[in-house]
Amino acid sequence: MADMAVPVEEMLHMNGGDGETSYANNSSIAKKVMMRVKPILEETINKMFCFNLPTCMKVADLGCSSGPNTLLAISNIVDIVNETSLRLKVEPPTFQFFLNDLFGNDFNAIFKSIPEFYHTRKPDTTCFINATPGTFYGILFPSNSIHFFHSSFSLHWLSQVPDLLSAEAKIADVDKGNIYVTSISPPSCAKQFKEDFTLFLRSRSQELVPGGGMLLTFIGRYDSSQNISPPGLFRIILNDMVLENLIEEADLVHFNMPIYFARADEVRGIIKEEGSFLVERLECIKTSWDGSSLDEAGCESFKDENERGEFAAKILRAVYEPLLKAHFGAGIMDELFFRFQKKTVQLLPKLVYPTLVISLTKIA
Ligand SMILES: C[S@@+](CC[C@H](N)C(=O)[O-])C[C@H]1O[C@@H](n2cnc3c(N)ncnc32)[C@H](O)[C@@H]1O
Repeated sequence: MADMAVPVEEMLHMNGGDGETSYANNSSIAKKVMMRVKPILEETINKMFCFNLPTCMKVADLGCSSGPNTLLAISNIVDIVNETSLRLKVEPPTFQFFLNDLFGNDFNAIFKSIPEFYHTRKPDTTCFINATPGTFYGILFPSNSIHFFHSSFSLHWLSQVPDLLSAEAKIADVDKGNIYVTSISPPSCAKQFKEDFTLFLRSRSQELVPGGGMLLTFIGRYDSSQNISPPGLFRIILNDMVLENLIEEADLVHFNMPIYFARADEVRGIIKEEGSFLVERLECIKTSWDGSSLDEAGCESFKDENERGEFAAKILRAVYEPLLKAHFGAGIMDELFFRFQKKTVQLLPKLVYPTLVISLTKIA
């Protein structure tokens, strides 16, 4: 079992590389959400730069991970800004992009994909790409230096693992065959989210130029206890595996995920209380675990429910496996994800999460 005292910022990362279980190969739902959100990105950028554009536009993507979505975010922003410059009849700016993620992120995989990105861009777009490893819960850039922040599917990760229940209470629950936490959002998680998100907003407002803005997309929750979340489903399965003696009870007792799914009104309240940003837009997109709710033309073609469940489970494996493996060891991963896939197939129609899309501008 790995030491859970290792700080989250040194431990958390998605499955790297480009193999079958990599995030790069299993990030198509985040991609679909990004395309769905593109008109809001366009609206945000157009509003910020309705009169003029900087000569060098500095943009940071926070929690970029590695894979096709990393450069897709950049590409969308370049396209939108270039159209704005056409409309304003000015030269398109030079772009400087800062790709941010935690230290364990597969930055090398991103670097290897940059030449292809440069080749496919129009020759008149000058674009410098930099990496900025570190946690976005704190200062990453000099004051007044960034025009725009983008972050997709990252802000539901917390800076540290909250202590959900005392170890004694959990052991008592195991004895009753019920280790898993029934509520996915106990008060200690909400408190941690509030502290983290406030620090995030404060840091970004310091780094943004006056009038700068950001577009944030992350997983939230409806105000309903019926919602099943991936961490909730993992807990149910891990609980079964403890009862079948496949996992040590003590390992499960000491396992928590640094994740929180906030309600839209909760997020709005934190933004208001922190006070640096004006909410231009805050809305929720219903996202099913297999992405079908995002398929206007039903693009994903599945043979049957099994294939659909398998697809959803593979996507979640790419995200959650490094954390689970660090704690429970590599040996049980195939069994754990086999069970996860079976449960996902059974529960699929109920498996949705709201995705919060928030457009903010810095208050001068
Ligand atoms: C699911 S991936 C999203 C990747 C990409 N933005 C997309 O939309 O496909 C979430 C990323 O957020 C990163 N992340 C989580 N907490 C972070 C933090 N405090 N600072 C920087 N990155 C963080 C993770 O390492 C992970 O790569």
